[in-house]
Formats: sequence, C-alpha cells, structure tokens
Amino acid sequence: MTTKILSTKLLERIGDTPLIELNSYSNKVKILAKLEWYNPFGSVKDRPAYWMIKDAEKKGILKKGKSIIIEPTSGNTGIALAGIARLMGYDIELVIPEKVSTETKAILTNLDAKLHETSDDLCPKVGVGTDQSISLATAISKARPETYYMPNQYENEINFLSHYEGTGSEIWEQTNGEVTHFMAGAGTGGTITGVGTFLKEKNSNVKIIPVQPQKNHLIQGLRNYEESAMPPLFKKRESIIDDFYTITNEESFKTSKELFEKEKLLVGPSSGCVMAAAKKVAENINEGTIVVIFADDGRKFRSLYVNQNVFTDDEFEKALNEASMIEELPFNINR
Ligand SMILES: Cc1ncc(COP(=O)(O)O)c(C=O)c1O
Repeated sequence: MTTKILSTKLLERIGDTPLIELNSYSNKVKILAKLEWYNPFGSVKDRPAYWMIKDAEKKGILKKGKSIIIEPTSGNTGIALAGIARLMGYDIELVIPEKVSTETKAILTNLDAKLHETSDDLCPKVGVGTDQSISLATAISKARPETYYMPNQYENEINFLSHYEGTGSEIWEQTNGEVTHFMAGAGTGGTITGVGTFLKEKNSNVKIIPVQPQKNHLIQGLRNYEESAMPPLFKKRESIIDDFYTITNEESFKTSKELFEKEKLLVGPSSGCVMAAAKKVAENINEGTIVVIFADDGRKFRSLYVNQNVFTDDEFEKALNEASMIEELPFNINR
C-alpha cells in the first residue's frame, strides 16, 4: 500500500465548506446541503479535532514529540485526529468499536494510528455499563496522565465552539441569514448544538432539528439516544432543540441512493439519514430554507453499501466515476 505524503498546508483547508442547493428537492422550500467532506480529511470532524488539539497545545497540555493523543471514536474523529496529529507532531491511539467499516479501519492504520477495538455498537456508547470505548480510553489515559491526552469530544466545549464559531457562522453568512431550519445527525451533539446556538442567537425563530438513527442502527457516527445516553455536551444545551426525528436504516440507505440518482452526490449513510428527515420536514411547511449537514461522503462505505444492497459493486464503481463535488483525499481507501 502506498502512503500519501501529508502537508501542513492541509490544515489551512479546515472549514469554509461549500453550501449547495439540492435543486431536485427544492421548490418553495429550499434544501441546502453543507458538504463537510470538503474538509481535508473528509468529514465534519476535522473541525473539532483541529480545534481540540490547538486548544490543548495552547493550554500546554500537549508536548510535541512526547504526548500521545487517545480518543474513543467511531471513525471520523479518529481519521481527523490521526491525520492532524501526524501533521502536528503527535502520536495517536484510538479506541474504536469493532463494527466500524473495514475501510475506516484501513484508513486509520494507514494514518499510523494504533487501534484498540471494543465490542461497542457503531458509535461509542455513553452511560455507565455500556461505554466500553470511552471507559477503555479513559483508563489508558488516566494511567499515564503525563503522556496521554484524551480530548473527549463527548464533553469538550471546544467541540461545541468549533461549530458555534465555524460551521454556524458560515451557514448564517452563506444563506444571508435566510436559514429557517437547521438539521444535522446527532453523535456527540457538537454540530447540532454549536450551529444551533449560533443560529438561535442570530434569529430565535430558526428551528433546530437533530436526527437520530433507529435502535440497533448501521449509521456510523450517529447514535440513538434510547440506546445510549445523551452525551454531556448535548445534554447541556438540549433546550435549543425544537424537534427530533428518528430514521430507519432502510430510509437512510434509500435516501443515500436517491441522492446519487437525483443529485450525483455520493454521500455517507449519515447524510442519507439526515436527508430522509429533511424531506419529511419540507413536506410539512409551505416555505423556508432548510440547511442540512452532509457529514462525509460515501467513498469509505463501499463494503457497507454493497452488503446492504444499496449499490452493487459495479454500480458503486460507476458512482465513484460519475459523482460530482468530490475532492481528492490525502489517504488511500482500501477494503
Ligand atoms: C458521519 C457523521 N455524521 C454525523 C456525526 C455527528 O456529529 P456530532 O458528533 O457533532 O454530533 C458524526 C460524528 O462522528 C459523523 O461521523
């Protein structure tokens, strides 16, 4: 396997992602998608990962060439932390659920991350007795506090801030303040609460709507809050939420496929999940501007999409060639 050479210039490309109108879904209600896979390591998680590392450096917690960053993650935070840590001079260890896609694990290894696998569900669970990934990462970091630093995206205010100051203000500017509804998948809750708080401060009428997958889901990066406790970061600002949607695996996958057929966008499953909910919101209003977060693209989900009969292998290959709005990634994706 070849390893791509990373450049610190990549760090300058975090944030300022495109916001595009989904023309085949828009009518009197516009639906706009923020394409977070334009971040250099391919997902929305580049934002909190970079901000949390910079914050720990500023506080003197991280020491180049000495410190090891450790974090429980279902993939995207891991990819972001691994890529960014390597560029900034830190070693990285990740605690991940074994169910994470084979492509994601291969990317993490390719980025020199040491992996600890647990039998957690797809997203590390929060809550006593179910939080294997979080407990293991905490135990490792507490045993050698002078070496390990755990950003802890489930509680770290900087995760919230990266979306409040970054994603939220970008959306406000990109829509000239016309956004009426904001929707994002819920994992740590950093995106929905950060963007949501910013937008509510600008216009208290903007509706903030998180989307969760069904119980026992297949949507990497998201969590169902009946199965897993709401992370403290989300709980703290739960009051800004206006409505909550729950979407099945089937609806999510069907909408991922539809987004390719209608818009030539090859999205990750969490984007299908959010879009399925956005369509329901759009049906119930007469006018407005819904902004949805597309957290990552579909390239690292080939095996999942083929196993779940969303695309055949040939269809996926064709989709890769035909997909629009795709950027080159600084790592290889192998199954
Ligand atoms: C693909 C994907 N979508 C959505 C999210 C949720 O974002 P947040 O943790 O800010 O709630 C994540 C988080 O890992 C993710 O990986």
